[in-house]
Amino acid sequence: MNILIINGPNLNFLGKREPEIYGSNTLEDINKLLEKESALLSKDLNLEFFQSNSEGELVSKIQEAFGKYDGIIINPAAYTHTSVAIRDALLSTGIPTVEVHLSNIFKREEFRHKSYVSGVSVGVVSGFGINSYVLGLRGIFETIKSL
Ligand code: DQA
Repeated sequence: MNILIINGPNLNFLGKREPEIYGSNTLEDINKLLEKESALLSKDLNLEFFQSNSEGELVSKIQEAFGKYDGIIINPAAYTHTSVAIRDALLSTGIPTVEVHLSNIFKREEFRHKSYVSGVSVGVVSGFGINSYVLGLRGIFETIKSL
C-alpha cells in the first residue's frame, strides 16, 4: 500500500511559524512520526512525502499520483480555503484522500471555516496538532484496507 503525504504552503516553516498555534515540531518531526506509525500499522505500507509552497506544483503532484498511490493525506494549508484547482485535481485522480490540519480550523477566523477539499475527502482531522497526521494515516489505512 502506497500513501502520499502532501503539505502545502508555509508548512516547511513549522517549528518557527506561529508556535502558539502550530506547535514547536518541524515538518521533518511529523514525517518521522508518520514513518514510525506506518511501521506499526503494516510492513507493506510505503509513505512518500511532498511539500510545496506553490499551488501548481501541488496540482501536478496530485496528478502524478494517479495509478501510483492508493491514498493521499493532504494538509493544503492556506490553499484549503481558496483552491478549486486542488479540489479538482483530487477529484480527477479519484484517490481516497484524508484532509488534515494541525489547528482546529473551525475554532479560528471565519475565512478558515470553508474548505474546498473536505467535500472531496473521505474524512477530515483538524485540531490535534501533529497527531492529526497520525490519526489521518490510521484513517486512510483502514479505509483502503476495506475497499
Ligand atoms: C492549517 C490551517 C490553515 O488555515 C492555515 O492556512 C495553515 C495551516 C493547519 O494545519 O492548521 O497554513 O492547514
